[in-house]
Amino acid sequence: MTVPMSKRLATLETGIFAELALEKRRLQKNGVDIIDLSVGSPDMPPPALVMEKLADYVRQPANYAYSITGLESFSDAVAHFYASRYQVQLDPQHEVLQLTGTQEGLSHLPMCLLNEGDIALVPNPGYPIYDASIRLAGATPYPIPLLEENHFLPCLEDIPEGILARAKMMIVNYPGNPVTALATHEFFEQLVAFAKRHDIFIVHDFAYSELVFDGVRPISFLSIPGAKEVGVEFNSLSKTFNMAGCRIGYLCGNRDGIERLALLKSHIDFGNFLPLQRVAIDALLAPHELFEAQLSEYIHRRDRLCEALQNVGWPVAKSPATMFIWAKIPDGFQSREFALNALREAGVAMTPGNAFGSEGEGYVRLALVQPVHRLEEAAQRIGVYLKSVSHAVNR
Ligand SMILES: Cc1ncc(COP(=O)(O)O)c(C=O)c1O
Repeated sequence: MTVPMSKRLATLETGIFAELALEKRRLQKNGVDIIDLSVGSPDMPPPALVMEKLADYVRQPANYAYSITGLESFSDAVAHFYASRYQVQLDPQHEVLQLTGTQEGLSHLPMCLLNEGDIALVPNPGYPIYDASIRLAGATPYPIPLLEENHFLPCLEDIPEGILARAKMMIVNYPGNPVTALATHEFFEQLVAFAKRHDIFIVHDFAYSELVFDGVRPISFLSIPGAKEVGVEFNSLSKTFNMAGCRIGYLCGNRDGIERLALLKSHIDFGNFLPLQRVAIDALLAPHELFEAQLSEYIHRRDRLCEALQNVGWPVAKSPATMFIWAKIPDGFQSREFALNALREAGVAMTPGNAFGSEGEGYVRLALVQPVHRLEEAAQRIGVYLKSVSHAVNR
């Protein structure tokens, strides 16, 4: 039989990610040692407190029922975390919603806010679910370029009037993936004014909130006066507490936005595993040193990798935040070709920038998810590859 496929699903592309994954698997089957810097999955374990408490909670028989909407004490813990970390006051009952993870919330929120014919503004390059979830909601994503000359912030004044008239929602992501830039207070203030002027609901993805380096403090969008009137913020424990595989996240901010997603979730979700909720509460209430400890390792990895790449003739900018390097590729290459050849010739997997949108062409993303000696080895191998290509070109 022909299995039916919805028009909405058919708009989703697997493209470059699938191609890269296939090639990686083929090489690994042939015994090639791949240094995988392509996937943004933390390799470090959660803090010991998280693993120990989780083991305790898992042994308690009462923790195996449906939780349905999530524990109130989880929302209280998020409110405590936001007050102590970002000086943002949240009403836990109406301004916090528990999620499976940021990814799940990002997938469902557009369905709650958008209709066919509506436009949603998304970053280009941007994290792929932004575009996909808007298409699945039947609406149309409109890419906003993030350019180096504008510090990778969107140029709000360049958006055409006709687009603004149809735009209902805008997604922003700082610190960002794949572009590792940070937002400024001034930009977020402009964004609040822009949202009010054009009636556009702001969705801030703050998944990398705590991977901000060199003593800089993360800025919650909700800390900007008026932000709660115009938007919401996603966050999770995946990166802050290295709990990506035992996922739990939340949405906070605008009450109507929260209520809309809560309504959808009441139909499709019966809540997270209770031991996870309980351990998330412990983590959110713990002293902040619990997650700050990993920052020095990320900074060390970033510095070693960037210096090693510089030494082999590929200077790349040091990221101010996140677990990635957003690296401009050497002249004369295209992103896809560069990433595929580096995988085949050097056994180093990176993600081509154009997998995240057209403005990612000319870049690759490297994830800092390997110990330093492997990152240095990756740089050495890339150096050998670059030398071999420049010999070939010069012959
Ligand atoms: C920008 C961004 N947002 C959201 C997510 C999803 O995070 P979570 O684990 O909270 O679903 C990721 C995961 O890598 C991400 O990079």
